[in-house]
Amino acid sequence: MNIRTIEWKNNAVRIIDQTRLPAEFVYLAIKDLKSLWLAIKKLKVRGAPALGAAAAWGVYLGVKNIRARNFSHFKRRLDKVISYLSSARPTAINLFWALERMRAVAECYSKESIQEIKKALFKEAQTIAEEDRAACRRIGCFGSRLINDGENILTICNAGILATIDYGTALAVIYRAKEEGKRLKVYACETRPLLQGARLTTWELKRKGIDVTLITDGMAAALMYAGKVDKVIVGADRIAANGDTANKIGTYNLAILSRYHKIPFYVAAPVSTFDLRIKRGKEIRIEQRPAEEVTRLFFKKPIANGNIKVFNPAFDITPAALISNFITDRGIINKPYSRNILKTLRG
Ligand code: MRU
Repeated sequence: MNIRTIEWKNNAVRIIDQTRLPAEFVYLAIKDLKSLWLAIKKLKVRGAPALGAAAAWGVYLGVKNIRARNFSHFKRRLDKVISYLSSARPTAINLFWALERMRAVAECYSKESIQEIKKALFKEAQTIAEEDRAACRRIGCFGSRLINDGENILTICNAGILATIDYGTALAVIYRAKEEGKRLKVYACETRPLLQGARLTTWELKRKGIDVTLITDGMAAALMYAGKVDKVIVGADRIAANGDTANKIGTYNLAILSRYHKIPFYVAAPVSTFDLRIKRGKEIRIEQRPAEEVTRLFFKKPIANGNIKVFNPAFDITPAALISNFITDRGIINKPYSRNILKTLRG
């Protein structure tokens, strides 16, 4: 299966509409900025690295028809587009990282014609996507060295093909290990409330021929107690300078359970997911999402009284102390994290 979660095709940003999976596999062609913003907000495209690429092409969509008199006029419009896209979702750093890359490219080309600046922005968006493809493959390669033949891996949410351009981060490790002939079994947490694990991870792992078993989030402890988990591998939305990691709500639970059961707990992410300006996890802004995501089963059947109070953070923070290693596109990061994250990112 060679699918691309997001790409530029026929003058539009083409994404797989992830809200329709697994029932329907449907591509969406997005041709304007507002539709792209909505696709991000509504999780039609999701996952930190895919959000980076979406934001970058979003910038291009937002500026491609601007008729500007000069650079400062163009720049004012560009800044508006960037600030609009920044408001789509707050936690994944890749979105902001890509937007800043786009802004920097425009500034570099400030002496060129508006047409040249637009061309450079388009090229940068393509580069961001291509870099992700390579980074994910490197993550897979480094991570696979930590995995032994016959192991059982537990994961949460979807940090696979559907969260990146085409290979994944946490799931890249599994794909690479399989390519190397290792036999693995994967347990996927369903990932309440939006069921990225049940809907997306099982879908893509099955298509890739990986032995996958779905569990509800509350079953992870029992699975570990039964000795059925050898390693836990998760993705990340933002990693602070000290290693504290924001990822899908429920990740922290798995990290605590792993510590208790002495199971290695790995975070797989490209270096673009590290945010050195954030010192510790407490400073990371966690997205709060609508109550209906919790009170209705994937927006359909009600499963709770409509008037009930709801707490619905999309992510949680796993303290660095609970993370065995980071698997990045520049290699494995060991403790002490504050020193070694800096070394890896600057090196
Ligand atoms: O709300 P989502 O589906 O965008 O959350 C995604 C995650 O939490 C992923 O684990 C993370 O972005 C890493 S993706 C390689």
